[in-house]
Amino acid sequence: MIEGFFYALILPSMKSHTANTSEHPIGLKITKAKGVFVFDERGKAYYDLIAGVGVNNLGHHLQEINEAVSAQMKLHSHVMVYGEYEQNVLIRFSQKLTSLLPPSLHKIYPVNSGTEANEAAIKLCRKATGRTQIISFKGAYHGNTLGSMSISWNETKKAPFRPLLPDVYFIELNNFENLNEITHKTAGVFLETIQGDAGVRIPEKTYLQKLKQRCEEVGALLVLDEIQCGYGRTGHFSAFESFGVVPDMLTLGKALGAGLPIGALVASQHLLKHFESKPALGHITTFGGNPVVAAAALAGLQYLTKNNIVSKVEEKGQLFQNLLSSHQAVKGFRRKGLMLAIDLKNPDVVTQCIEKCRAEGVLLFWFLSLPSSFRISPPLTITDDEIQRSCNIILSVFDQLD
Ligand SMILES: Cc1ncc(COP(=O)(O)O)c(C=O)c1O
Repeated sequence: MIEGFFYALILPSMKSHTANTSEHPIGLKITKAKGVFVFDERGKAYYDLIAGVGVNNLGHHLQEINEAVSAQMKLHSHVMVYGEYEQNVLIRFSQKLTSLLPPSLHKIYPVNSGTEANEAAIKLCRKATGRTQIISFKGAYHGNTLGSMSISWNETKKAPFRPLLPDVYFIELNNFENLNEITHKTAGVFLETIQGDAGVRIPEKTYLQKLKQRCEEVGALLVLDEIQCGYGRTGHFSAFESFGVVPDMLTLGKALGAGLPIGALVASQHLLKHFESKPALGHITTFGGNPVVAAAALAGLQYLTKNNIVSKVEEKGQLFQNLLSSHQAVKGFRRKGLMLAIDLKNPDVVTQCIEKCRAEGVLLFWFLSLPSSFRISPPLTITDDEIQRSCNIILSVFDQLD
């Protein structure tokens, strides 16, 4: 009792028993969400142009997902660590997911998050090739656990946690000469097909093709991370479709769970068999393939395909671009589908812009590694009218910036 009083005095900012991730969390008190909107405790609606950072691609609180989750809960939730039992819903989800991918990506290894999918991919690259070297890219973000952080670029975020994985090297996107750094020593090359946190950086088509060719020449495995840019975000189910390249491994997460936590490593049986023996259980994951999450993910993919959502993404992205890109506050605009980065002429007003928009009812978000820019990644289901109205708010905030 006395102890509680003491902590209440010295830690007035810790209102609850959940840890903060920074000294200045946004702190919106969310009570419900529906479609493109989230609502705070006063009932104020916000256009969610971030979608939980690329997660709620189908919008919030979709009836089909809720029904699939409760139907599965009536049957069973967790029954065993991943891989030991056959679970009908997981089989149906993996069939549906692989039906949307090229034939060589025919098996999924389900995990709990994007970062775990990349951890598993790093391990698989090493084991399948017998090599240790990983090549990644300047600007990359692959997650925040030690392995995926090791292959991410932002040194400020990494420095306090060193030493990280050895034998990791970074090359420059779209630099053809740098491809020679990929050699017979390289186990795997990791690339976000569209770099997200670097500010929506898009590879040249020929570059990605040369990258794949170089990997094949030296026997390195190409891993494309589509945790953020996959699931229809770029106007194709997989972002790599528009580059004419198929990776050896694909990592997925975020939107794949339709709002529930998920990750997946997708590859061929030829590669994934390396997790089966020497040692057996090469990637143990208790909750990977959780049946309730799988039910949501299956319902999400069914909703996405049945409603042809991906086919309308490019048009909607173009509408955002038409409405926002020519304002005088804007210096640069990068976009693929509904994955947008907007550079402001005055980098010092990015936070002001994001905070004013929030006050006016539009949620935007920063890039961790690009302070002069903000991101837009709305639900893919956003309507033209919602785009128009939310952009009107952003434009009026642009007008007021210092
Ligand atoms: C490209 C990319 N890879 C990996 C991750 C890590 O995913 P998670 O935070 O779900 O572990 C993220 C998260 O933002 C991401 O954008």
